[in-house]
Amino acid sequence: MSRNPKTISEERDYLVLNVKQAKKIVKEWLTEIQLYNVVKLGLPEIDDRYHYWRVPLCSKNSTRIGEVVIDAYTTEIIASKTTKPEILIARLLKQDENQIESSKQNKKEYKLSNLRNTVGLGDSVQLLDDMPSESVDLIFTSPPYFNARPEYSEYQEYDDYLFKMRQIIRKCHRVLVEGRFFAINISPVLLRRASRNESSRRIAVPFDFHRIFIEEGFDFIDDIIWLKPEGAGWATGRGRRFAADRNPLQYKAVPVTEYILVYRKHTDLLIDWFIRNHPDKTTVEDSKISDGYERTNVWKINPSTNSRHPAAFPKELAEKIIRYYSFQGDVVLDPFAGSGTVGSAACDLNRRFVLFENNPEYIKIIREDITSWKNLNLGNVLWINCEPVDPIHKQGSIFNQGEK
Ligand SMILES: C[S@@+](CC[C@H](N)C(=O)[O-])C[C@H]1O[C@@H](n2cnc3c(N)ncnc32)[C@H](O)[C@@H]1O
Repeated sequence: MSRNPKTISEERDYLVLNVKQAKKIVKEWLTEIQLYNVVKLGLPEIDDRYHYWRVPLCSKNSTRIGEVVIDAYTTEIIASKTTKPEILIARLLKQDENQIESSKQNKKEYKLSNLRNTVGLGDSVQLLDDMPSESVDLIFTSPPYFNARPEYSEYQEYDDYLFKMRQIIRKCHRVLVEGRFFAINISPVLLRRASRNESSRRIAVPFDFHRIFIEEGFDFIDDIIWLKPEGAGWATGRGRRFAADRNPLQYKAVPVTEYILVYRKHTDLLIDWFIRNHPDKTTVEDSKISDGYERTNVWKINPSTNSRHPAAFPKELAEKIIRYYSFQGDVVLDPFAGSGTVGSAACDLNRRFVLFENNPEYIKIIREDITSWKNLNLGNVLWINCEPVDPIHKQGSIFNQGEK
């Protein structure tokens, strides 16, 4: 009778001769580090070059998470070449996390808002409370300036102003759909000196707002620079002294830019999710942005020529933001609506609007202009705390249908 020929392992006098023995060593090690029940073994292979057994480690769903390396001559596990237990644990947890996230993404339902076009007179702090959660698809606004007219300002201190802005940003967070955008047009503010013996002070408002946005649950997406023509900045008076005297240290840059800071309500949903799950594919197609869009974060736009509001932003700016960050049919909110630029741009682009403004003078402007806004069924505008423009229109609920 002929004897079986020796295996390579036997010829080399390894102590670990086969797959079964290699697995047994690894199972004992996994038991010791308390991972035996959560880790599966792949097929061990001999590495002839170094005389190692390499045993793959996998999670229960067969994804590779590491490897154990055994010295074939001694049966010893080579710690420096073996995946560390803490790394195995981290990878297993990460996989669980990913699984939870992907099942969350699969379960989340795309809900279309049922809000009507709305104009509300009052403080946004109160008006926002009457809106349903996650009923707005985009927010675009520019906040009131701190101390625009100190004699009338409702804010004693800058901190009071920031506190109020935080309240409104927090309430906006609630009404904004998870994963959708909040763009804010904002710039530093110049506090003029009270006398010749004082310096003027410039407050970096956008950076304070940035912190509030992050603390209130938004993720930072983009800083867009709105670049105005050079002449626009001289109105601030900044840089005049230097232009005349040219002394070093006196230099002051003439501001010709403002920021549009773009945030997204925190989510683990990918942007793709919104495109894939939108219930109306035609709307997604119709909302595509044609050539000629802004490719960089510097947008050259002339300031607004609207003489009826001292701080109106150009409609072109609102149009770009609405086009780039919403679908047709979406609801766009402006909690500091002023003369209603966002509403008019939203109508042009077949979006719905919610405009809140606390100054009756500006609500008056909106009421005068609204009849000329495109695509608007005046009978279907909800007027809160103000008379409807259409006298036969009956005021009703903020919703088209359904409940809060
Ligand atoms: C910078 S302006 C907005 C101008 C607007 N983007 C436009 O194009 O006309 C800010 C507006 O916020 C309004 N406002 C200030 N505080 C408010 C509040 N708490 N609630 C609602 N509106 C407020 C001001 O009256 C002002 O009209």
